[in-house]
Amino acid sequence: MIFVTSNQHKYDEISSIMQNVGFKVQWRKMKYQEIQADTTEEVSLDSATKLAPLIGKEFFLEDTGLYIAALNGFPGPYSSYVQDTIGNAGILRLIDDLSRTAFFLTVITFYDGTGFHQFSGRLDGSIAGEITGKGGFGYDPIFIPEGESQTLGQLPLSTKNSISHRRRAVTAFMEFLTESGHIDSTDD
Ligand code: IMP
Repeated sequence: MIFVTSNQHKYDEISSIMQNVGFKVQWRKMKYQEIQADTTEEVSLDSATKLAPLIGKEFFLEDTGLYIAALNGFPGPYSSYVQDTIGNAGILRLIDDLSRTAFFLTVITFYDGTGFHQFSGRLDGSIAGEITGKGGFGYDPIFIPEGESQTLGQLPLSTKNSISHRRRAVTAFMEFLTESGHIDSTDD
């Protein structure tokens, strides 16, 4: 199954989750333009729709956003731009003494050769008081998953991969592939 991303971390996480249960993942390392839209679902679908004629066979991609409740879901679909501009330190300054409740949302869009299917996964948690931990990427050092006392930047990658937004979206995707009797046609 072709996974289109330019992000090594996303590839490592997804391939480890899928290959553990017998799904082969081929990395198509490729940067593509993302639109700015109101939802992560729209961004992901738009990218997949534009890539489908270029790739010409089935593939999937994913988009992830960090949604902070006290900021009405910001940065959400703007997560990439916000990470590149104000970064984790900027997020901590923005929320200051507001409520720290937040979640990550991953949306996978799968192109099956004719149509598109979307699968999502969410991880609830809170924004840490400071940037902590060197593991993971992006917002991981400021995000504490519900039920944990450390950030995703501190927790082992195996823990992140067993509870994450990405894990949940991939699980829904693999269930769909299994239930629909899907046969991978990208092995060649
Ligand atoms: P995108 O899905 O590549 O557009 O990611 C949006 C932003 O969220 C980027 O700045 C990523 O670094 C960040 N991001 C994506 N996935 C994760 C994750 O699993 N943990 C922390 N940050 C993430």
